[in-house]
Amino acid sequence: MQYQFPNNFYWGSAASAAQTEGTTLGDGKSDNIWDHWARQEPNRFFNGVLPTETSTFYDHFRNDIGLMKAINHNSFRTSIAWSRLIPDGVGDVNPQAVEFYNNVIDELIEQGIEPFICLFHFDMPIAMQNIGGFENRDVIEAYANYAQTCFELFGDRVKHWFTFNEPIVTVEGGYLYDFHYPNIVDFKRASVVAFHTMLAHAQAVMRFRQLNIDGQIGIVLNLTPSYPRSDNANDLLASHHCDLLFNRSFLDPAVKGEYPQDLLTLLKKYDQLPAVEASDCDVIQQGKVDIIGINYYQPRRVQAKLHAIHPDAQFMPEWLFDSYEMPGRKMNPHRGWEIYEKGVYDILINLRDNYGNLPCYISENGMGVQGEDAFSVNGQIQDDYRIEFVSEHLKWIHKAINEGSACFGYHMWTFIDNWSWCNGYKNRYGFYQLDLNTQERRIKKSGQWYANVAKNNGFNDPQGG
Ligand code: BG6
Repeated sequence: MQYQFPNNFYWGSAASAAQTEGTTLGDGKSDNIWDHWARQEPNRFFNGVLPTETSTFYDHFRNDIGLMKAINHNSFRTSIAWSRLIPDGVGDVNPQAVEFYNNVIDELIEQGIEPFICLFHFDMPIAMQNIGGFENRDVIEAYANYAQTCFELFGDRVKHWFTFNEPIVTVEGGYLYDFHYPNIVDFKRASVVAFHTMLAHAQAVMRFRQLNIDGQIGIVLNLTPSYPRSDNANDLLASHHCDLLFNRSFLDPAVKGEYPQDLLTLLKKYDQLPAVEASDCDVIQQGKVDIIGINYYQPRRVQAKLHAIHPDAQFMPEWLFDSYEMPGRKMNPHRGWEIYEKGVYDILINLRDNYGNLPCYISENGMGVQGEDAFSVNGQIQDDYRIEFVSEHLKWIHKAINEGSACFGYHMWTFIDNWSWCNGYKNRYGFYQLDLNTQERRIKKSGQWYANVAKNNGFNDPQGG
């Protein structure tokens, strides 16, 4: 069967500043939370590989953009590092950063690759974190000023902007589950950070509108469907609570300009609501996006709680549900994540039916594999598993589009194997393999396959289905 995509469909991949640029000494960049934390606790990083050693895009961007073109990308998302552009978080702009991002954007456009630019991908400048990060309302203002600076500097050429990448992950990692700096475990503070992040998002959208920039602005969310174990009322409630906490806490304000009443009622019941100021609701209303990016890797499966909570335990999302391992689930054994391709269809149909069919694209999807060298034959990684992963997801995206979804593109995570937060280079995701010793980039079989998909705006699968 032929899976043909709409004209002008965006084919590409995604990456982020902190994961690819590498720190180049003397270029004016200051520390973000990752640079700082890595020095404090290097043991937290897989094999001790720290954020200084990311894939040197800062030095090799022209070559790398050439490699994107070689596999027929027509679009690419990366982020601007706030700590590079405005090293103190507020105040002076770093001219070397302006030159670098201008060069990257110009080179992308020169090669026929549409730049999709995100303003924040987990990388809070340490100067801002030191005054409380998004717990402090001053940081909302600082972020809005930074966003405005980006629009003014690059808005003449960038037509697709994103305020945040997966803002819930910063909240989960930094304020609930201890896998991002500042390693706080406190739901109430997490709730404040989540709310202030959305205020910062909305302020950035307002600045964008005020400047009358020609282009569209959105947000990238990891929308993880919460599938209940059964249709028992308690399982359904557990899944509803997960959906409220992990999806709708960002999706509803971003698209509808308001929080779901059920979420507010739930947080109030457990005394976890953040403080709200008089103008906040109005600000959130004005943060409605034009487009949305969807990151999808794995589903969430849940069931009603099986056991009572310890009376002394502090409030956590897990008070409301237990995870559920579906028997017979399909797994990516290398990453330990479930593969459920239909999840991407369910997300797109949900946006079609419940969110006004807002224009959207798949901004990340991918398959991390540990020890990928084992699949190398004559110097090339034969990642047929990745080709199957992508094509099976694309079939569901194709079906959703045929049924009216306004999905306009697909970006893989990622382009060249890159550094991944605490996981370092453990899980490889790229279309190009990165040799950590020589920095050489080698195309994988999936990169060649994807080049044809992009060229043909679709693919054929004789097996169909
Ligand atoms: C996404 C992030 O959540 O997943 C990326 O936006 C990240 O920054 C990617 O690298 C893959 O996750 P991981 O943990 O396997 O590297």
